[in-house]
Amino acid sequence: MHVLVTGAAGFIGSHTILELLNAGYTVTGIDNFSNSIPDKDGQAISLKRVSEITGKPIPFKKVDILNESDLEEVYKAEKFDAVIHLAALKAVGESSAKPLDYYFNNITGSLNLIRLSQKYGVKNFVFSSSATVYGPPATLPITEAASVGTGITNPYGQTKYMVEQILTDFAHANPDWNIVLLRYFNPVGAHPSGKIGEDPKGVPNNLMPFVSQVAIGRLPVVKIFGNKFDTPDGTGVRDYIHIVDLAKGHVAALDRIQKVGHVGREVFNLGTGQGYSVLEMVAALEKASGKKIPTELGVPRLGDVASVYCDPAKAANELNWKAQYGLDDMCRDLWNWQTQNPNGFAAQE
Ligand code: WQD
Repeated sequence: MHVLVTGAAGFIGSHTILELLNAGYTVTGIDNFSNSIPDKDGQAISLKRVSEITGKPIPFKKVDILNESDLEEVYKAEKFDAVIHLAALKAVGESSAKPLDYYFNNITGSLNLIRLSQKYGVKNFVFSSSATVYGPPATLPITEAASVGTGITNPYGQTKYMVEQILTDFAHANPDWNIVLLRYFNPVGAHPSGKIGEDPKGVPNNLMPFVSQVAIGRLPVVKIFGNKFDTPDGTGVRDYIHIVDLAKGHVAALDRIQKVGHVGREVFNLGTGQGYSVLEMVAALEKASGKKIPTELGVPRLGDVASVYCDPAKAANELNWKAQYGLDDMCRDLWNWQTQNPNGFAAQE
């Protein structure tokens, strides 16, 4: 299978492409570098590293999914069998400040991609969705049968929910398509080689890249967003999943389509089913790094809920996929990436 991967240069894109190549897929990547770094030749640094690790080439083009003509040139140049759509603006807080950017990029960009996939007969579509679509969970653990779309507190989450709805309606009108919605919980860590990892532009929004930058000395202190939640130690609990496990979930989705032939529209949680608190995550990285990580208490973030973690059974039963790595693996690999790349990709190229 030849797969078009959007958002190819990013944290999830680079790790997913690595696992696709390891599984024998061929890949073409596109990215607009809105949250990743090109080298002096305009190539994606993260994907150059993936080629080093796998020994395989990765055709890449700088393309913005909002530029429909540029995007169509990609479809004209290659015959794709599947699309894995990862490209999106993904900063929850920023989305509240810049809703139009998020609606245009995440929704119009997705519409461009779906329409061109239809025009060029690419009928296998894997979409990067998020646990955010569940809103504040009514019950825990969260299964794929839980209601979605209510209580979403930010435009980022709304865009993920809306694109899921678009793909669901499209699937009903086009039953011969295979459309797999993957709802990510909290991806963390890095490839064991330490050559690729999470390198967000600016100050990290998410917990673990922030904690590891404090541990390496790039940031002064971890601010804990509230300690009065209804959780064992009062800090927020989330379902953290190793990025390699998450990447392999995408391979499993395509493997299943190839094996079964036709799956229609499907939804899967990609999580471990195990929740950890902020304090537990900080302690786990202290253990992996041998560093004392300073923390201070901050105010709760608007929209933050106490606990979010999934029931991973559906993916285990139907996708033949289950997270293999635990918290120590996530922190070991995160710290290995951080120490090999103290300033991320940019400083080394
Ligand atoms: C985790 C926990 C915070 C930072 C979001 C999106 C989700 C996905 C992942 C994109 C929470 C606490 C955080 C900090 C803290 N998005 N925290 N201090 O909010 O669960 O999920 O990111 O891929 O769709 O909703 O992840 O890493 O921001 O927060 O105390 O500096 O850490 O309150 O309890 P979140 P997160």
